[in-house]
Amino acid sequence: MTETITTDTDETTDTDRTTEAGQTTVAGETDERTRDSWTDYEFEGDAKLAADDLDVHYGSDHALKGISMEIPEESVTALIGPSGCGKSTFLRCLNRMNDRIRAASVDGSVTIDGEEIYQDGVNLVELRKRVGMVFQAPNPFPKSIRDNVAYGPRKHGDIETGVLSRLTGRDDRAKEDEIVERSLRRAALWDEVNDRLDDNAIGLSGGQQQRLCIARCLATDPEVILMDEPASALDPIATSKIEDLIDDLAEDYTVVVVTHNMQQAARISDQTAVFLTGGELVEYGQTDQVFENPESQRVEDYITGKFG
Ligand SMILES: Nc1ncnc2c1ncn2[C@@H]1O[C@H](COP(=O)(O)OP(=O)(O)OP(=O)(O)O)[C@@H](O)[C@H]1O
Ligand SMILES: [Mg+2]
Repeated sequence: MTETITTDTDETTDTDRTTEAGQTTVAGETDERTRDSWTDYEFEGDAKLAADDLDVHYGSDHALKGISMEIPEESVTALIGPSGCGKSTFLRCLNRMNDRIRAASVDGSVTIDGEEIYQDGVNLVELRKRVGMVFQAPNPFPKSIRDNVAYGPRKHGDIETGVLSRLTGRDDRAKEDEIVERSLRRAALWDEVNDRLDDNAIGLSGGQQQRLCIARCLATDPEVILMDEPASALDPIATSKIEDLIDDLAEDYTVVVVTHNMQQAARISDQTAVFLTGGELVEYGQTDQVFENPESQRVEDYITGKFG
């Protein structure tokens, strides 16, 4: 009698992107093949952003390798992975912030609503208005709370105030008040600051400063909000306010958030992308699935704290 030997077809059909399986790397990770099927995340609805075969080099350092992923609109996408795996680099690709880093070179494609952002003629100011960013350390300007929130709309010429605008008959003070209030309300900060809008923002607590930075980002009416570890400098109460806010923002915006805190990623995100050492996207899927039943052994090792 002949026995049929079945083989794992995935193993043979998928691109072999890493080395031999079963080894342990110096970082303590289990070495294994990364299968494209582990990053093929299928979702209902439209993709807001899509990266296709994205590579980033800093000089000769290959920081991101062939990243392809689609990010669904009006949801929260968490990017997790050990330090140096390229999370911030990937985030910066999504609004061409890497253009500001001289050593960085980006190859591949990123689209927003199907439109290529890496092509000649893209207006970067307009792009960054559509795809806003909030950084790890709150970075309000040393100006009043009002000036911080109104900064973007003033810069983009959406509101005009001051002597010159009064002389020319255009004074958008009421419009400015409306944008400032709306943005601060949306960032869950209005109730705490509405009686001191002209005070310096530096006098706010860290958590309030971070919500102010979110309000500043919202004031220019973005479609996507990128957040790079937005709560890592904050205490647990301020962190939980930011988490509630992210949840709330996902009703209207596409939020992409980098976090080192896995419980946070599990709490706040709809889908999770796991990057691992070497700048690879190893797994991408629904958050529950990635945390409870990851496809990749390396991802399981990372999530259960065996390395990283
Ligand atoms: N401006 C830069 N110039 C040169 N190399 C850089 C620069 N920024 C990042 N890199 C390199 O690219 C790789 C990825 O860095 P990146 O900051 O994207 O990682 P990360 O996942 O965000 O890490 P962390 O969790 O520590 O913030 C690292 O090897 C880093 O040294
Ligand atoms: Mg980073």
